[in-house]
Amino acid sequence: MNAAIRAVVRQADALGHETWGIYRGYQGLLEGDLEPLPSRACANILQRGGTILQTARCPAFHQPETRAQAARVLKDAGIEALVVIGGDGSFRAAQALMREHGVACAGIPGTIDNDLPGTDRTLGFDTALNTAVEAIDRIRDTASSHGRLFLVEVMGRSSGMLAVHTALACGAEAVLYPESPEDSLESLVARLKAHWDAGKRSSIVVVAEGDTVGRAMAVGEQLRQEHALDLRVVVLGHIQRGGSPTALDRIWGSRWGAEAVRRLDRGERGFYMAEVAGAAVAQPLSRVLDPQPLPPGDLGILVSVLSR
Ligand code: F6P
Repeated sequence: MNAAIRAVVRQADALGHETWGIYRGYQGLLEGDLEPLPSRACANILQRGGTILQTARCPAFHQPETRAQAARVLKDAGIEALVVIGGDGSFRAAQALMREHGVACAGIPGTIDNDLPGTDRTLGFDTALNTAVEAIDRIRDTASSHGRLFLVEVMGRSSGMLAVHTALACGAEAVLYPESPEDSLESLVARLKAHWDAGKRSSIVVVAEGDTVGRAMAVGEQLRQEHALDLRVVVLGHIQRGGSPTALDRIWGSRWGAEAVRRLDRGERGFYMAEVAGAAVAQPLSRVLDPQPLPPGDLGILVSVLSR
């Protein structure tokens, strides 16, 4: 996200516009927590995780009166366009601000879940993926030394995108995720047993948190009770959301931030930046209402095929 902030500020500067930073998202906007963000304020932020502008959830933004107040703050500060970095909730709010109050909005996808329609990537996904893979590589050392089964839970909310990509990249024996056609424990146990019979002495199952953080704990308990399996559970949690961003996240944050400003400068409004087949393109904000993209089905299958 810092790469995107830096690019917005510096591209705007190059085009002769002044940029203001709004702290803590819509919550900070409502409270008037904003100030000029000059080019020099973005020095050395490219390699830092998180966001220098901080973030907050703002349930009050669902109320039309709250959005009217936000529009007033923007108008009073003389802000002519708003660049929103976030996921589907942030984009829906931006769409409402545009529709109800004519605020010129642009979006930059920022969520480790990679669950936005119309884009192959969201900022943070690649960093979280690499962090999860690195952590699981370490767990693999114990799993193979002790001949153990591990369940490792990754984030992603209702999307299995992070889980499936992590599982493939770390050579997991299986992956459980919400959209999986065969998310049954019986078939999982049968598969693990077949691996064991074939001589495997370590197993790692990546579990998507789904709608319940700590889901891997419940799955682990069920496997212990119903299938008498000895196993360990690791919940990676917020480790996945921090740390220095990967080069890919920095590059896309920079490309999208700059392109969003160039488009706003040309008079375009109501779009979010996206990657489609390697190209930086813009999607209409309304596309955020499309169904959440599914993890490519063939990747889940590949995890099983390659773990034999
Ligand atoms: O949506 C991004 C995400 O990191 C999810 O993967 C996760 O479930 C959630 O946010 C965690 O949110 P919080 O930090 O508010 O607990």
